[in-house]
Amino acid sequence: MPAVNTKLAALLTAIATLSAVAGSAADVTNAPYEIDGRKSGYLFMTPATRSLQDDEFQNPGMFAVERGRELWNQKDGPDGKSCASCHGDAETSMTGVAARYPVFDSARGGLVNLELRINTERADRMKASTYKYESDELLALTSYISYQSRGKPLNVDIEGPAKPFFEEGRKFYDARRGQLDLACGQCHDALVGSKLRGDVISQGQLNGFPIHRLSWRAMVSRHRIFAWCNTSVRAEPYAAGSPEYLSLELYVAWRGRGLPIEAPAVRR
Ligand code: HEC
Ligand code: HEC
Repeated sequence: MPAVNTKLAALLTAIATLSAVAGSAADVTNAPYEIDGRKSGYLFMTPATRSLQDDEFQNPGMFAVERGRELWNQKDGPDGKSCASCHGDAETSMTGVAARYPVFDSARGGLVNLELRINTERADRMKASTYKYESDELLALTSYISYQSRGKPLNVDIEGPAKPFFEEGRKFYDARRGQLDLACGQCHDALVGSKLRGDVISQGQLNGFPIHRLSWRAMVSRHRIFAWCNTSVRAEPYAAGSPEYLSLELYVAWRGRGLPIEAPAVRR
């Protein structure tokens, strides 16, 4: 398995280079975007949206990555520390980190995702204020750190203390909810490829996050999409960062295991 993943990651890099040269990835093989039937949302986008994602000079998500790079190096808090003060160059210290999140955190006795980890780093290690979920700052740092895992396969740990949270997430995924009485899989397993209000329904994978959603002209977190999908079946959404969405995030990340991180992905 790891050998295969390394090969895929290499292939993905090769294709990214190729498409940068060719200027378009539209007719490049789909192989790295599909693993054992698990498909990246990329495959459900138009050729124009795909090439926007592939071209780093045009990908609107790269603004968030650049802003994240600034924040990584920006000193804050009473001791005048930045993330870089302790972690150095994110391009080496953060490689592969995003692909392992969310993780069980023993201090917290629950799951943390990348967004919550960034905030606990600020609060505990810098004594600086935390960022609001969905703020430009948090999306930017999350995008910057996730970008360091591009091409790395999603690989979350669901064993040991993470297990009960994983099971909670699976239950959430399978539960019918809202006035429309629909479970996640009734769209993202059963209706994959169908059209819904201008969108083509994908498998609902997380490997592209944070994504830039063109129709919203915004960077979007995993939990914001969960809330939007809940609302679309007229169910009450949970709060971003809530235990419910953290467990769901773990399950959905596992469901897409092996898919290469694409952040910042571009979606419709
Ligand atoms: C005072 C030093 C210090 C500062 C400042 C700091 N960190 Fe950390 N950070 C650590 C240490 C120590 C760890 C634990 C390392 C480990 O678990 O291997 C850690 C862990 C992490 C992890 C988890 C890595 C993993 O493999 O799971 C992330 C992500 C992270 N830091 C991001 C940040 C970000 C973003 C900032 C700035 C907002 C920051 N850190 C600021 C010291 C620091
Ligand atoms: C009524 C159908 C429907 C239901 C039910 C639904 N979604 Fe979605 N979801 C969509 C549509 C439409 C989109 C936007 C197009 C796409 O990427 O599939 C979307 C997008 C997503 C994405 C972003 C995929 C990407 O590549 O950007 C994720 C993740 C997701 N949904 C997860 C979920 C989860 C988890 C649930 C259950 C809580 C859920 N969805 C329930 C219709 C649905």
